[in-house]
Amino acid sequence: MNKSPNAQRMEKIVSLCKRRGFIFQSSEIYGGLNGVWDYGPLGVELKRNLKNYWWRVMVRERDDVVGMDGSILTHRAVLKASGHEDTFSDPMVECLLTNRRFRADQVPRQNGIAHHYLGAIGTTALIKAELTMAEPGRFGTTGIKDKLLSIGALEDVAGIVRHSLVQAMGTLSETDLIKLNKVVTELSAEIRELPFSALLKEGKSPQAAREAATAFYTKRGIQDPVLIGERADKVTNSKDYNPENGSLLTEPRAFNLMFSTQMGASADPESIAYLRPETAQSIFVQFKNILEVSRKKLPFGIAQIGKAFRNEINPRNFTFRSREFEQMELEYFCRAEEGMKLLDYWLEERLKFYENIGISRDRLHVKTVPDEERAFYSKGTYDIEFDFPFGRQELEGVAYRTDYDLLQHQKASGKSLEYFDEETKQRFVPHVVEPSAGVDRTVLALICEAYSIDEAPDEKGKMETRLVLRFHPRMAPIKCGVFPLLKNNAQLVAKAKEIIDLLRPQMNVFYDEGGAIGRRYRRQDEIGTPFGVTVDFETLGENDATLRDTVTLRERDSMKQERVAIEDLAGILMSRIR
Ligand code: GAP
Repeated sequence: MNKSPNAQRMEKIVSLCKRRGFIFQSSEIYGGLNGVWDYGPLGVELKRNLKNYWWRVMVRERDDVVGMDGSILTHRAVLKASGHEDTFSDPMVECLLTNRRFRADQVPRQNGIAHHYLGAIGTTALIKAELTMAEPGRFGTTGIKDKLLSIGALEDVAGIVRHSLVQAMGTLSETDLIKLNKVVTELSAEIRELPFSALLKEGKSPQAAREAATAFYTKRGIQDPVLIGERADKVTNSKDYNPENGSLLTEPRAFNLMFSTQMGASADPESIAYLRPETAQSIFVQFKNILEVSRKKLPFGIAQIGKAFRNEINPRNFTFRSREFEQMELEYFCRAEEGMKLLDYWLEERLKFYENIGISRDRLHVKTVPDEERAFYSKGTYDIEFDFPFGRQELEGVAYRTDYDLLQHQKASGKSLEYFDEETKQRFVPHVVEPSAGVDRTVLALICEAYSIDEAPDEKGKMETRLVLRFHPRMAPIKCGVFPLLKNNAQLVAKAKEIIDLLRPQMNVFYDEGGAIGRRYRRQDEIGTPFGVTVDFETLGENDATLRDTVTLRERDSMKQERVAIEDLAGILMSRIR
């Protein structure tokens, strides 16, 4: 099957990530751990740049936000009070054939012909009946198989078998009749009433459905099953079937997404702790302590970046839905009457943030989450979505969570989480607006946004295809490559190393002396390094003394080159990458 251009693009991105050391599958040499990823040398730099920039604009550059770093292991009581223990679950459906689970709301609607089966019986039970009553071969298991397939009710099976046996035997003595009744009763006990259905595209032969049903009954312990009671009907807009193989799915069942663990030596329920499913709860639980030490006045926020864990049923789309991931969350506490206005304020701030890290506004979309999809305690939620190659998907949620969380923890802990307003002398539990972003999803969006292919001249000036990651310089893992024109010229090498030493305290730089200069540029383009500095003979002042201690500074996207003095280099670069 031909893959869509978007699927091909995604495949290339995943492969580049591995080849150039952005992202690897966790435990890869042991076959991989599903839904868990490791970041390589470039991935970790990209991730760090993102987190540092978030921290800078959300915490350091604001007077009204302070930070915290909470523990990952979380007291069970916290997640009981927040509602996670009882309700943090997705309704899941399971394929009856492969046991693969899907989120019920993500199963696509399908049309086709559904083939239904009432149950099955093992071929050996039929053969046993035949051997007991008739001469081998006379009963005709093939004939009876067809008859059983077309009956309308399981109760009819015994009658059909009896009839076939009588026909096979001809005349029956009284002893035969007694024996026949016994055989039919025994055979009836072997019938498994176990409905199964499979969906096929209209016009397809039922054979594929029969094979699926045979596999289903075999899996349930019926050897060489004979299918009973096949019926077909047309279905439209159905979410009851596995989109991958047409097998019937189970009814939706709740599946809790939290990872639990045991603290200490005893294994009693009291020792259960959870790996946090979001960073937000530790902010709510520490609200009072942080309020006291920071002496902030409303509105003010507490920010946190850290790991969160969810036992996602269907980790997919590379790192997009992972089981271990990082969040960047701000809980911005306010008075009730400010909630809705601040929700809009934070939406705008967050959209600006994405533009400032190089994500084009055209690929960002704001979804107003409708009432029926919103958490019951939220008065308003926006999802910021991004056009990934695999579709438009959520990058961040901005939610007005009201006073729900603090009230829940106040009630459950018995400790006051109130704020005292000096001016009005009132005590109340603040409301909160929460912009909650995913680090891994944003890293993936940055890579998808940056990935591009254009043309650039090779060594001889001939145009060739160039793979380039157009990261915003602020996000780029390596800011500047430094290249001596020739590696066997000691003066050029020494100068290039001097430049490395000059820049290194301020930014991540990379020294490369291997291969033709065009190749070296190309290697840096592929990992998104925005600037390249070449030390050449002009730098040594060999042709023109006025050019001594100058270098060429090449810009990745335009490929333009300018001549700059080494002493100005750090200042120029810093002004472009900050
Ligand atoms: N405290 C609110 C909260 O956790 P959420 O919408 O469940 O809300 C917020 O998660 C963000 O965390 C999402 O927008 C997404 O960026 C990220 N996220 C959630 N689940 C994720 C997963 N399984 N893998 C990667 N990122 C995830």
